[in-house]
Amino acid sequence: MYQRPRRNRKSAAIRGMVEETNLSVSHLIYPLFVAENPNEKSEIISMPGIFRWGTEKVLAEIEECIELGIQNFVLFPVVPEKYKTKRGEYSADENNFYLKVATEIKKRFPEIALMSDVALDPYSTDGHDGIVENGIILNDETLPVLANMSLAQAQAGFDIIGPSDMMDGRIRAIREILDDNSYDQTSIMAYSAKYASAFYGPFRDALDSTPKSGDKKSYQMNPANKKEAILEAILDVEEGADFLMVKPALSYLDVIHVLSENFVLPITAYNVSGEYAMVKAASEKGWLNYDATMQETLLSMRRAGANAILTYHAKDFAQLHKK
Ligand code: PBG
Repeated sequence: MYQRPRRNRKSAAIRGMVEETNLSVSHLIYPLFVAENPNEKSEIISMPGIFRWGTEKVLAEIEECIELGIQNFVLFPVVPEKYKTKRGEYSADENNFYLKVATEIKKRFPEIALMSDVALDPYSTDGHDGIVENGIILNDETLPVLANMSLAQAQAGFDIIGPSDMMDGRIRAIREILDDNSYDQTSIMAYSAKYASAFYGPFRDALDSTPKSGDKKSYQMNPANKKEAILEAILDVEEGADFLMVKPALSYLDVIHVLSENFVLPITAYNVSGEYAMVKAASEKGWLNYDATMQETLLSMRRAGANAILTYHAKDFAQLHKK
């Protein structure tokens, strides 16, 4: 035998030397759910260790995460029913608690990268990402709503706008309104290949945003398709995206890989709520080792080609590496 691959695995030093993929806290983006009631802290049952944070409590939580080395955050609003409407006007309302807390966060922690969520579902009585009429999602009528929401978020101080809605043409609509209002330095992270996935269940519990009727298959992608992800990515690049995202991550590593091989823009993987719940639940039962499994899944996303990873594991990962 001239080739014995095991020689390159014989000690930790050599294994370190030949390691092909690295993963560190700087790659991670931590999602936080914010609620209107300032002192709320309520755990999401299907996501152990993840909380809905009130607008006051979230500041302390971010501070704690920064001390652990986390620099990137994405905020999702838990919108009370009383603010929900068919067209989600609250999303750009000047009294919107989500916008106000973003301003406060950026004032207190100017160095972090703060990302938003753009879609109608948290604000909509229908629980869909676009405007619904007679059971149909109205694409073009939704675009100005998404654009106005994005502008309000840019004005509030978000560094990165995160459209998760999957309407056609929304990246262009958002880029145009931002540029027209001198927000040419506000970035867009496009949820380019977002699949109609069963793995979003715990997130919809967290936000109480399950669609009132129907499903999201007329706008989110079919899990059977990969070429279509390339089309979505081409459009998002042309329309002005700064990052391309694949969501979910674990069952879609091939999609992350094909985009990272074919596009110059950075690729983000969204390690979604259901993926987090699986690892947590199995480790709570003692069936998986949490730390090892969590790190292996995150590493696999980096190996597939993701630059950044949105993950609910970020704080656990940061804690583990602080030690
Ligand atoms: C909605 C949105 C969803 C997620 C992020 N933004 C749910 C959905 O599309 O129904 C899911 C994230 C997760 O599961 O962690 N615009």
